[in-house]
Amino acid sequence: MKITKAEFVKSSTQISQLPGGNLPEFAFVGRSNVGKSSLINMLLEKKQLAHISQKPGKTRTINHYIINDSWYMVDLPGYGYAQTSKKERKEMLRFIKDYILYAPNLINLFVLLDAKIKPQSSDLNFMEWLGINEIPFTMVFTKMDKISSSELSKNMAQYRQEMLKKWEFLPMVINSSAVKKQGREEILNYIEELLNYC
Ligand code: GTP
Ligand code: MG
Repeated sequence: MKITKAEFVKSSTQISQLPGGNLPEFAFVGRSNVGKSSLINMLLEKKQLAHISQKPGKTRTINHYIINDSWYMVDLPGYGYAQTSKKERKEMLRFIKDYILYAPNLINLFVLLDAKIKPQSSDLNFMEWLGINEIPFTMVFTKMDKISSSELSKNMAQYRQEMLKKWEFLPMVINSSAVKKQGREEILNYIEELLNYC
């Protein structure tokens, strides 16, 4: 899919502030610092549309971007960042989950996972919750430029092992790197395919 237009719409700190309307939306979620905002910028070929930081916890709002005047790309805050208080982490996770349950036009969620980090319980629990709530999602491994192929196969084997404890089939997996522009076509083509059903 060609991105001809990408514009920031709004940041929401509460469910009541979400844009509404009936445009299909695709959201990006994952632990803080996994590379959600970087991936969105890479997909949209805009360097600074979504705000990026080396410090985890940069995105604390739900950010809607309107693409080609016809669908939303949504940058979500990170969950599971250890430096914030337990209460804050719980509230952030609740906010993300409320959005997911509330968003009537959410077509697919992209769950970002750092390819270099072995499976974390926060991610596994979150994906299990998505499964229980029948939310369609794709696993996107990020920062592929930082990992060797042997490290990657080891990590993937661990994910497979952990996920198959709860899942009969594994969800679709896409490998990406915001630095190398890896995964761009695959993600955008998948979104395009899903938009055809909307
Ligand atoms: P929060 O908004 O805090 O939840 O973080 P985020 O998931 O949006 O991550 P962000 O895009 O802000 O990136 C976090 C850090 O990872 C930044 O220093 C990025 O430059 C770096 N980063 C993101 N993607 C990649 C990638 O593909 N490769 C490499 N090497 N670094 C990346
Ligand atoms: Mg961010």
